[in-house]
Amino acid sequence: MSRFTGKTAIVTGASRGIGLAIAERLVADGAKVVITARKAEALDEAVQSLGGLDNALGVAGHAADLDHQVEVISRAIDTFGSADLLVNNTGINPAYGPLTELPLDAARKVIDVNCIAALSWVQQIHRLWMKEHGGAIVNVASVAGLKPAPGIALYGASKAMLIHLTEELAVELGPTIRVNAVAPAVVKTKFATALYEGREETVAAQYPLRRLGEPEDIGSVVGFLLSKDAAWLTGQTIVIDGGLTLTGGVE
Ligand SMILES: NC(=O)c1ccc[n+]([C@@H]2O[C@H](COP(=O)([O-])OP(=O)(O)OC[C@H]3O[C@@H](n4cnc5c(N)ncnc54)[C@H](OP(=O)(O)O)[C@@H]3O)[C@@H](O)[C@H]2O)c1
Repeated sequence: MSRFTGKTAIVTGASRGIGLAIAERLVADGAKVVITARKAEALDEAVQSLGGLDNALGVAGHAADLDHQVEVISRAIDTFGSADLLVNNTGINPAYGPLTELPLDAARKVIDVNCIAALSWVQQIHRLWMKEHGGAIVNVASVAGLKPAPGIALYGASKAMLIHLTEELAVELGPTIRVNAVAPAVVKTKFATALYEGREETVAAQYPLRRLGEPEDIGSVVGFLLSKDAAWLTGQTIVIDGGLTLTGGVE
């Protein structure tokens, strides 16, 4: 028996990058997974890479859409029999630059997708499954949520809110539901390309572990947080950063 045998996980924003690596790790450890993203084609490819429909189901939609959230959770329960684990992985950062020039519509969108949607996923999975059966939740935050991150400041503020939401939810949902977060530094995905492309060696030199993150570095820690090995751990944010924040850096 693997540690997630008989468990079903929902991972949002998981057709590539960190979300897909989390799904891969959970499937490798015996879970069934339901993954989401907006584009159906990439989602289909991800399902195939996870071993096909025996292991994974893809449901296309926007993470902030309530009907989509309810559909995903309902299909997890109908298809695999439960909705035990939730990973709020979807996050966006559509605008770079100083806060004084940030279009407020962009600011609202970031808060809506990175924070309000994550809360809504928790509300819906609580109502439809976890209130009765318990479960475990991980929110994917960022080191940008730990201290000022000029240029991506609103994104950082949204991740700070997600970290605080994690603590509030942990207090509210114990003892049967655990809620934790991870805060990665730069991980080599499409999302972070602008932060390292063409200068990876220079960027990596700032990290005590002398390399940038790989999506698998996050998948393994999320797997731990969702597992029984973390049974007495809730409301915590695990910083996964190759040591970067020890040096004062956040990106
Ligand atoms: N990479 C890093 O350096 C880093 C560091 C710290 C934290 N993070 C956090 O890690 C999480 C994942 O980032 P990543 O680097 O893995 O990004 P990524 O490689 O760009 O992947 C993003 C995934 O989310 C989906 N997605 C994007 N917007 C969505 C939406 N509105 N609704 C549903 N799905 C959506 C994408 O598919 P579609 O485009 O088809 O929707 C894709 O599957 C984010 O929360 C990010 O803030 C990343």
